[in-house]
Amino acid sequence: MEKTYIIANWKMNPASAKEAQNLFDAVVQGVQGVENVEVVVCPPAIYLYNILNTKYNLHAGAQDCAFADPTGAHTGEISPTMLKNAGCEYVILGHSERKKYAGETLEIINKKLHAALAANLTPVVCIGEATRGENAAELEVQLQQVLAGISVAQVQRTILVYEPEWAISTNKNAQAATPEDCTKSIAIMGTILGKLYGDVAIPILYGGSTHSSNIQQFLKAGAHGALVGGASLDAAEFTQLVKTAAS
Ligand code: 13P
Repeated sequence: MEKTYIIANWKMNPASAKEAQNLFDAVVQGVQGVENVEVVVCPPAIYLYNILNTKYNLHAGAQDCAFADPTGAHTGEISPTMLKNAGCEYVILGHSERKKYAGETLEIINKKLHAALAANLTPVVCIGEATRGENAAELEVQLQQVLAGISVAQVQRTILVYEPEWAISTNKNAQAATPEDCTKSIAIMGTILGKLYGDVAIPILYGGSTHSSNIQQFLKAGAHGALVGGASLDAAEFTQLVKTAAS
């Protein structure tokens, strides 16, 4: 059976270390005994250190990393090697909110991807169109530029996410993609990867307004898991989502 990934992106939440620890502990407790799902929690970097020092049965990741590594004059940045040395296994790259609010370009995401892979992190790279509609050309441009110079061996250590901006719950008029959208876009991404790399098997997750009530439909539609925003901030709901994905 192929692995299913459920990755929690807490974004810029919660407001205190105590709340972060409580949420983390409740998730750890909630997903105990769940098999066949790789559960990854990506808190804000400032909480990672405490969380990584607790005993837990899931995996931790960061929401971003620097493109420079391992140290240097990059004020405000955290390098991939620092994340790795702190105990992180995963890093989300190229989230649409970083493109929108931090001016991140496809070129920068590509540099971060190279750096993350070199530091032996598993990158979770977000790809997706901004507005709903025909997306094949946009997905192709994004994949080509983000994966520039990435070898077959490297791409096989990468996780991709089809995360259309219009489906992210906090965006105006957001609505989850339909299973048909999901199947079609994952197939498009698979075809592009085939053109770039030949016959490779790379997990492609779905992200955007996922909940315990709709996760199964995305898995059935061909997603190898989900990148979960809002629903990951509620331990009971997130736990239910993980259990549903595992069932
Ligand atoms: P929501 O699950 O809140 O739509 O967020 C999705 C997302 O942006 C995950 O990275």
